[in-house]
Amino acid sequence: MQPLLELRGLTKDFATHRAIDTIALAIARGEFFSLLGPSGCGKTTTLRCIAGFETPNAGDILLDGRSLVPLPPYRRNVNTVFQNYAVFPHLTVQQNVAFGLERRGVNNGAITRKVRDALALVELTGKETRYPNQISGGEKQRVALARALVLEPELLLLDEPLSALDPKLRKQMRIELKTLQARVGITFLFVTHDQEEALSLSDSLAVMNSGRIEQVGTPRELYRQPASRFVAEFLGEINWIDQVALRPESLNISKNHPGGGIKALPATVQTTTFLGNRTQLRTTLANGRECVIEVQDAAQNIGPGEQVHVWWRTSDEIHIPNP
Ligand SMILES: Nc1ncnc2c1ncn2[C@@H]1O[C@H](COP(=O)(O)OP(=O)(O)OP(=O)(O)O)[C@@H](O)[C@H]1O
Ligand SMILES: [Mg+2]
Repeated sequence: MQPLLELRGLTKDFATHRAIDTIALAIARGEFFSLLGPSGCGKTTTLRCIAGFETPNAGDILLDGRSLVPLPPYRRNVNTVFQNYAVFPHLTVQQNVAFGLERRGVNNGAITRKVRDALALVELTGKETRYPNQISGGEKQRVALARALVLEPELLLLDEPLSALDPKLRKQMRIELKTLQARVGITFLFVTHDQEEALSLSDSLAVMNSGRIEQVGTPRELYRQPASRFVAEFLGEINWIDQVALRPESLNISKNHPGGGIKALPATVQTTTFLGNRTQLRTTLANGRECVIEVQDAAQNIGPGEQVHVWWRTSDEIHIPNP
């Protein structure tokens, strides 16, 4: 099936700096796709090229098989929710959401109806006449979403839309965003540098590093079968034991050797940290390397200075092609 969005060899230079380097991507219609990577890796630049605010130096951007590159931003059936979500402070909630429709010359009856539906979708009914300084951060975020959704784009670009929110609201909005996307069926290209956000929201994601794409796959594939050391380490904590990698939750700990046939190494406990639903133990292996273990059973009565055995199942080992 033809992807909704396709990037082919997309490259963008700023003077001598190559911000994105021959990127290839295919995003299916209806997908929640995330672009994940550290600050400065080229996420916003990629979105700006798709939206038409930057002109690529090389490569192509196809929406439904047609190149977007020759089209100005307003001719692309794409909308963006920006990093700082910039709602207009001098317009009410209602006017903010109606803005794009008015510019398109949509008739008043249709505007009223579409704005009402969009505000209902993001649960802002009743707040129509408020100004942005009279609503909360999370509500402003929802105004920004409604403003983009009301234009019914084929593709919605979201650049760290939750980054201005406090952690609790951020988690709540994360769930809302996922529900909303499933309901409206619009393809989302979501940018974040938060690995938990990307893993929990996406159908598929791409991990970016220094302007390149390191790996594309489902959250499970990337977490369990990272293709590079960068991806393995960016998606959460990981231990390197001999030639294999192991996530902290794949490791177990016991005072006695777990028995024949089981892979185990002696270790010394350095610290134990109670994290509510699990306990994290930082240990040192005989070769001096640190090894982090997370166990659910906190009642193991193992403390700092203790000599223990760290053991794991072979099936939990992660083999990285080019570590
Ligand atoms: N207009 C510009 N002129 C020159 N360099 C730029 C410009 N815009 C971005 N860059 C550079 O390109 C690189 C990628 O920037 P970009 O904004 O795409 O990163 P990002 O992945 O979105 O980072 P963040 O997570 O911090 O938002 C950075 O090194 C940045 O300094
Ligand atoms: Mg950015």
